[in-house]
Amino acid sequence: MKTLILYGSNHGFSEKCAYILSEKIKGDCTVSNIKRKKDVTLDEYDMIIKGGSVHAGRIQKHLKEFFIENEQKLKSKKTALYLCCSDYQNVDKYYESEFPKSILDEALVKAHFGHAYYMDKLNFILKAILKKVADVENSEENIRYEQMDILLKEADLI
Ligand SMILES: Cc1cc2nc3c(=O)[nH]c(=O)nc-3n(C[C@H](O)[C@H](O)[C@H](O)COP(=O)(O)O)c2cc1C
Repeated sequence: MKTLILYGSNHGFSEKCAYILSEKIKGDCTVSNIKRKKDVTLDEYDMIIKGGSVHAGRIQKHLKEFFIENEQKLKSKKTALYLCCSDYQNVDKYYESEFPKSILDEALVKAHFGHAYYMDKLNFILKAILKKVADVENSEENIRYEQMDILLKEADLI
């Protein structure tokens, strides 16, 4: 069983989650940043896990492009999804609006791994937006390990 984790990440949290998850997976597992691996070869993998984060209501555009370009190929694979975002009430809404229906329908599991704000990675403008919109000024991190365990179990990866 060969697994590929493809992630999009603006400030490193979804990336961190990808690597934590990869450590728990039985068998071969490759972790790739979708930004650098747009032309990744899917053929050699049995399971594809796709993850990303929400910024201003949107997931990474490279992920969306990947879904469109590989829609047919992805149909023949086992897939699982994870999202990282700070609006815990609206995770389902983001899944609905940001992922193609075919990707959602075929996914064995749709997880939410939590969120993080890393202040040292944000520029002045993003910090100001965050303060105004979410009243956040300090770094914070919430990794939902229990959601990782659910994904691993539902996708038969442990
Ligand atoms: C500028 C900015 C905008 C964000 N917009 C949203 C949003 O619209 N909805 C949401 O749920 N989370 C939002 N978040 C929270 C991110 O999804 C969260 O910080 C996530 O962990 C980022 O992961 P990443 O570091 O992999 O990009 C935003 C965060 C930042 C810094």
